[in-house]
Amino acid sequence: MKIYKANDFKDMSRKAANIISAQVILKENSVLGLATGSSPIGVYSQLIEWYKKGDIDFSRVTTINLDEYRGLAPVNEQSYRFFMNTRFFSHININMANTYVPNGMESDAECECARYERLISAMGGIDMQLLGLGHNGHIGFNEPGAAFEAYTHCVDLTQSTIESNKRFFAASGEVPRRAYTMGIKTIMQARRIVVIVSGEKKAQIVKEAFFGSITPRIPASVLQLHNNVTLVGDEAALSLL
Ligand code: GLP
Repeated sequence: MKIYKANDFKDMSRKAANIISAQVILKENSVLGLATGSSPIGVYSQLIEWYKKGDIDFSRVTTINLDEYRGLAPVNEQSYRFFMNTRFFSHININMANTYVPNGMESDAECECARYERLISAMGGIDMQLLGLGHNGHIGFNEPGAAFEAYTHCVDLTQSTIESNKRFFAASGEVPRRAYTMGIKTIMQARRIVVIVSGEKKAQIVKEAFFGSITPRIPASVLQLHNNVTLVGDEAALSLL
């Protein structure tokens, strides 16, 4: 695993954006696995800035997102599709038809999860997967206890994730209880993984996930078994390493 230490959130975002832009420059039809949450916001802003300067071309890129709340339509401001469209896709020259997020409105979970896995295979797999890290070590929405062998599936969110994500909703009662997420196996099949972490609240879980034992109790710990992981964190998030 490579670790890049950044000074702060902006610097972390810039370093991670540099890695992603190098990927796209070297392979213009890259398949990028993307993430939501507060961690990647700065990465997307930086990539938009470089796109506007003419430094990156997204016209041949395909993106596939990690997860989506079940029951939220793309027009819902809290849906991850809405997040991706407004924070990233609508500002760059990507072909919207080549951007994929699980369909939160599909009630047949089996059908949606199988469709998502087929999509990823049809793309030839994910070249680079961007990941944030939940406070309990979750990646995507793979909560503690999630099977390392799981592919895309429907999950019940833990109370701690509902609590930490309620800041994005008007009331905690509005946070969906279920979500579709790529499974750990899906994530592990990405050829390269870039994890971004920021802030002192992540310091403890960063230490446990990357330097502790590999256990389903801390889903991100499985990343220790991947042969191409880059961790980009700010000083606060890496302070316990
Ligand atoms: C959500 C997402 C995760 C994300 C996590 C961390 O639960 N499903 O993919 O990594 O939040 O979010 P943040 O970056 O806001 O700390």
